Amino acid sequence: MKYNFLGNTGLVVSELCFGTMTFGGKGIWEAIGKIQQKGVNDLMKVVVNSGINFIDTANVYSHGESEKLLGQSIKDLGFNRNDLVIATKVRGRMGEGLNNVGLSRYHIFYSVDESLKRLQLDHIDILYVHGFDPKTPVEEIMRSLNDIVLTGKVRYIAICNWPAWVVMKALGIAEKHGWNKFVGMQYFYSLAGRDIEREIMPLAADQNLAMMPWSPLAGGFLGGKYHRGAKNTEGSRRHSFDFPPINKEKTYDIIDVITEIGKQHDVSVAEIALAWVRLQKGVTSTIIGAKDVDQLHANIKSTEVVLTADDLKKIDEVSSLPKEYPGWMAERQSADRALK
Ligand SMILES: NC(=O)c1ccc[n+]([C@@H]2O[C@H](COP(=O)([O-])OP(=O)(O)OC[C@H]3O[C@@H](n4cnc5c(N)ncnc54)[C@H](OP(=O)(O)O)[C@@H]3O)[C@@H](O)[C@H]2O)c1
Repeated sequence: MKYNFLGNTGLVVSELCFGTMTFGGKGIWEAIGKIQQKGVNDLMKVVVNSGINFIDTANVYSHGESEKLLGQSIKDLGFNRNDLVIATKVRGRMGEGLNNVGLSRYHIFYSVDESLKRLQLDHIDILYVHGFDPKTPVEEIMRSLNDIVLTGKVRYIAICNWPAWVVMKALGIAEKHGWNKFVGMQYFYSLAGRDIEREIMPLAADQNLAMMPWSPLAGGFLGGKYHRGAKNTEGSRRHSFDFPPINKEKTYDIIDVITEIGKQHDVSVAEIALAWVRLQKGVTSTIIGAKDVDQLHANIKSTEVVLTADDLKKIDEVSSLPKEYPGWMAERQSADRALK
């Protein structure tokens, strides 16, 4: 396992982060995974033994069950909490109450206390804002996040799924007031969805923010079960929970290419797909998901896959994004500023 600094911080995280969205199985999360305590402990043993020190959960995963199962596994397995970097999130609805949702100061403070209870911890290492809240002013969000860090309950703040312009606005507001700023970003990024290359990745590079891609297998679509003409996908997550949205026809073409490359390297389609994400410039830690220990072992093994320049070229040809305005204009206008 290799390690990277988390953006512009002194915090060191493994190049793989373990995602716990498959824990619990409550409500809509049932289709994603129903792993209970024994299964969670089995996975967590493999995670820690492999050298992964970075764990990702969220208040909403299985309505708090994922946090509870994770916290209990740390206790059951006797892990030193200070060897782990634990991330959770705030934004989603956690109950009927009018204010039990969103990024108001009220909900951020309440949600962090509830997460800490479920995790049985006294602090969260990274608190992600889980998504956009069109109703709470960005100034209120950033001041509240700064204040929650000052309480000592949260060490760092980070962002998921916001449009680039709102992230930049939030960074500017935090800078103006001398508040804590986001240190990293968590966005959907996979061979089946390279959209963040347009605005989000350049923003991360410019602001020295860490990048933690989620759903690197597009929720299992790049796991090997799916290809053009695949007959039996029953039992897989995407069969009953078709998320995140992707262009399936284009992805079938990508799968054809990475299947061939996988054969040449004697590794699975999933391992090629994960290796590609890990090798992209600016990626700090890829958030892997697994339904069982076998999948987890395969995903960890993907860190040993070395893709050649020729592999990367073939993969890029089939998966790159179509040109889009103003990107193509910026590209044209950059040409005459390149030194010969
Ligand atoms: N911030 C956000 O908005 C956000 C959103 C989503 C996820 N996340 C985070 O990202 C983490 C990972 O997301 P994800 O679970 O969607 O990741 P993913 O890697 O795209 O999908 C994981 C699924 O792919 C299949 N799979 C995994 N390893 C495999 C292997 N070696 N071979 C074949 N199939 C394999 C499994 O489903 P099947 O076997 O059923 O096909 C597994 O549940 C989550 O746990 C969560 O922490 C964050």
